[in-house]
Amino acid sequence: MSRWSRPLFWVLALAICGQGWAQSSKGQHQGIGRAATADEIAAWDTDVRGDLKGLPPGSGSVSRGEVVWEAKCASCHGSFGESNQFFPPLIGGITAEDIKTGRVAGLVRGGDQRSTVMKLPKISTLWDYINRAMPWQAPKTLTADEVYAVTAYILNQGNIVPGSFVLSDRNMAEVQAMLPNRNGMTRNHGLWDTRGKPDVKAAACMRNCGPEPRITSQLPDHASGSHGNLAEQYRLFGQVRMAVLPAVKPVAAAAAPAGVSDPGRSLADKNGCLACHAPKQRTIGPALAEIASKYRGVSDAESRLVAKVRAGGQGVWGNMPMPPYQNLPEQELRAMVQWMLKSE
Ligand code: HEC
Ligand code: HEC
Repeated sequence: MSRWSRPLFWVLALAICGQGWAQSSKGQHQGIGRAATADEIAAWDTDVRGDLKGLPPGSGSVSRGEVVWEAKCASCHGSFGESNQFFPPLIGGITAEDIKTGRVAGLVRGGDQRSTVMKLPKISTLWDYINRAMPWQAPKTLTADEVYAVTAYILNQGNIVPGSFVLSDRNMAEVQAMLPNRNGMTRNHGLWDTRGKPDVKAAACMRNCGPEPRITSQLPDHASGSHGNLAEQYRLFGQVRMAVLPAVKPVAAAAAPAGVSDPGRSLADKNGCLACHAPKQRTIGPALAEIASKYRGVSDAESRLVAKVRAGGQGVWGNMPMPPYQNLPEQELRAMVQWMLKSE
């Protein structure tokens, strides 16, 4: 090809490819996949955006939220959202002045224990997160109205809305305008601006390039360690990131010998017990190994523990309560307790 025809060749080639691409993106590509149905898209498209697009209709009062909170959230986050036992506190650290200015002075000053209401710049994030991820051991079980209610309760605990407030899809934007850290978002950090100077200099090296670069990442001191060692915390949902230790041992491997599938284990998994009971370390509830060793040789342990799990309760291992499981059949409770008592 001559010097001049080469660019022309590429222009034509791109034009032809581009046409094919445009066609397939209109769904006319033969034999590959099918268009998603409206229901499939709706099931997938659940996010609530910063501009509040995606919020489902609904509403909930602070007082209804308090009921949801006590039943489903307080055991981990504390009655007033103040607990820092499993997660930094949700509530605390903001003043009336912050609500006026839209920038939390405690964050600017630094050094304070940070809470969720302190950092939150967008109300949509709080709603969306609770809707998708909480309660921790049973995510996606709250109705839209319950999410509005419990969000209202959190806002009330942060003194952002009064006790008589009813949060709904229609007044979320007004609440956005009251958030104490609504002006706290910054774009003045890495990778936001892609037009400036590149942050890497890539001079291609093909051989004798010296030692491999070591890639590390680090959390600032005030943030690291506030969740404990995540690798030791068994989580039913999602991956463990920022782990300090090597891979997490799945509960199955740790608690039951390989190849043995104990029905008690699968029931405990299915019923969410393992969210609070890890094999060896105490997390929210006592470790399985601790339970087994405490009751080893106790003759009526099984029936006592079945009754305890059914009724829920606290005080044997600490102040943290276990929720009641009144609706589980007797044989299921028995199988789970038997399995737990066998842990080592
Ligand atoms: C079994 C314990 C547990 C229960 C019950 C629970 N949470 Fe959580 N919550 C957590 C943990 C652990 C995290 C941190 C999760 C993570 O980082 O992956 C968290 C995080 C959160 C956050 C995010 C805070 C932030 O700053 O990122 C919110 C908001 C929250 N929970 C609200 C709720 C609400 C509302 C309920 C009740 C409907 C609830 N939680 C019930 C354990 C729990
Ligand atoms: C939200 C966290 C949580 C969940 C979920 C949970 N537990 Fe517990 N569990 C606890 C806590 C906290 C204790 C300690 C209670 C105490 O101190 O009296 C406990 C204690 C226990 C004990 C020992 C009781 C005693 O008196 O020594 C057994 C057995 C037990 N749980 C079994 C279960 C089973 C079975 C399930 C699932 C059906 C389950 N747990 C789900 C938090 C939880």
